[in-house]
Amino acid sequence: MESIKQQLNSAVSEAMAVISGSSDCNANVVTASKPEFGDYQANGVMAIAKQLRTNPRALAQQVVEHLEAAALSPIDRLEVAGPGFINIHLADSYLLSEANSALQNPSQFIGTSDSPQKIAVDYSSPNLAKEMHVGHLRGTIIGDCLVRVLEKLGHEVVRQNHVGDWGTQFGMLITHLRELESDQAELGTQLEDLEVFYREAKERFDNDAEFATASRLAVVKLQSGDPEYVAAWEQFIDESLKHCEAVYKKLAVTLSRDDLDAESRYNDDLSLIISDLESKDLLTESDGARCVFLDQFKGKDGDLLPLIVQKSDGGYLYSTTDLAAVRLRMAENIHRSLYVVDARQSLHFQQVFAVALEAGFADDSLSLEHIAYGTIMGSDGRPFKTRSGDSVKLEDLLDEAVKRAHDLVSEKNPALTADEKTRVAQSVGIGAVKYADLSKNRTSDYVFDWNTMLSFEGNTAPYMLYAYARIRSILRKAPEVTAFAVSGVAETKERALLLKNLQLPEVVSAVAQDCFPNQLCNYLYELAGLFMRFYEVCPVLKAEDTTILQSRLALSQLTAQTLQQGLDLLGIETLEKM
Ligand code: ARG
Repeated sequence: MESIKQQLNSAVSEAMAVISGSSDCNANVVTASKPEFGDYQANGVMAIAKQLRTNPRALAQQVVEHLEAAALSPIDRLEVAGPGFINIHLADSYLLSEANSALQNPSQFIGTSDSPQKIAVDYSSPNLAKEMHVGHLRGTIIGDCLVRVLEKLGHEVVRQNHVGDWGTQFGMLITHLRELESDQAELGTQLEDLEVFYREAKERFDNDAEFATASRLAVVKLQSGDPEYVAAWEQFIDESLKHCEAVYKKLAVTLSRDDLDAESRYNDDLSLIISDLESKDLLTESDGARCVFLDQFKGKDGDLLPLIVQKSDGGYLYSTTDLAAVRLRMAENIHRSLYVVDARQSLHFQQVFAVALEAGFADDSLSLEHIAYGTIMGSDGRPFKTRSGDSVKLEDLLDEAVKRAHDLVSEKNPALTADEKTRVAQSVGIGAVKYADLSKNRTSDYVFDWNTMLSFEGNTAPYMLYAYARIRSILRKAPEVTAFAVSGVAETKERALLLKNLQLPEVVSAVAQDCFPNQLCNYLYELAGLFMRFYEVCPVLKAEDTTILQSRLALSQLTAQTLQQGLDLLGIETLEKM
């Protein structure tokens, strides 16, 4: 299904092609930058006119005439503006009919893509040796939003939680575990705090030579499949995953055990990756390590940067696993593979993608995309830490969010029952953390600040949830309506609100394309703002005429529906009351 923007873009592009005779015309239709320019504007005529060395305004005029002759139902009128822009005014009748079909078929409103793809999304991906901390928050939240958006559009999404469950650290952890482990039942208690457990193991490893030797041996035993060591490792991983799952549950993210794409999964492929690279003449030895050097990766000094794929002791690395993963994704006929990972790993992914292409592990039928995000900072302008300088455990952070939201709600609306307060606190607290993240351009760093994210003013979750709850409360006060239908948009504010509602599908497809969830947040924020303005100037419950009353109620219902669908894609649950 095509959004309004896509429909206009195809119509104008086709008209341009007919008029100019050129086959690659892009109308470049965008939302109008000012209301006087209409609803949308086509900016693509100038480029084609330049190519054909013809007058852009005259060409635009011809395109307009061609479109007028076609009398397309969405378009009311067109005009040529400036050096050759085409302003597009949509027909009210079209807006009304689109709005009413959205009201009748809410689940069809966003629509699905005409070319569904198989898309892998690598996100969250914590290291299981430790507990999830604040550094995993962004990837988990952004990844989950992208997954929801892509699935909504009908793509086949393969969630890939590429957890770190392999490597030397696990030798130390299972050695510590095996020595402690007196009986099965105690295991959960011993691993209740993974941080403490890790610290203990690490301290022994650093100070006790015998323990260190045993740990190194444990890695070898584990990697060669010794059943006893494998069993201990499985127990550890299982406990550690329970910690992650508790976080996922609190955050209401859609990851489950079925979505694991653990590093250990690739163990058997790693030696093949090396032999493949070798047979393709891509390996160079450097200080005993095996590396791939590609011309496009140079350091500041102009020297080539290596991608190390095997250490001098024979051990494989993070990059080797990622190469194996790319190869598997290619074999699984994935079209797009999104890696929602910290921006600090940009070079790693650029190198992995380039080496994968060079080695033929992937070709351009697979689009490899690093969806990078910035760091969460504390108010001191440094990466967010606890007062004592430790990394903030995600579970504690989420508990605090809910607690703060509970205090806030109790203060704002003491009349709610205890159950209602709990529900509201849950949705506002978790929603605030998610929304604060999703509403920022993901590539920038941002400062984690409770007061801003829990504010009822500005582009925040409380504001958005309140806007929704407010519309729902208006609707509850309304006379019984059997079927909602918008019948008129005489007022400017009414029309602006209606049109904005109809733009959700194009915003969602832009998010699927570029993977910037802040576009969706900005859109919802503007939508909520337009509703407030509409409500100020257009009486709804007090409308004099029943037709107008019904129509404005329908428009309010449509807005509530759009907000709910949008927030749902962000992973935020709406509330009827707050
Ligand atoms: N476990 C890694 C970390 O904690 C992130 C993994 C990201 N995914 C990947 N395919 N490399 O930094």
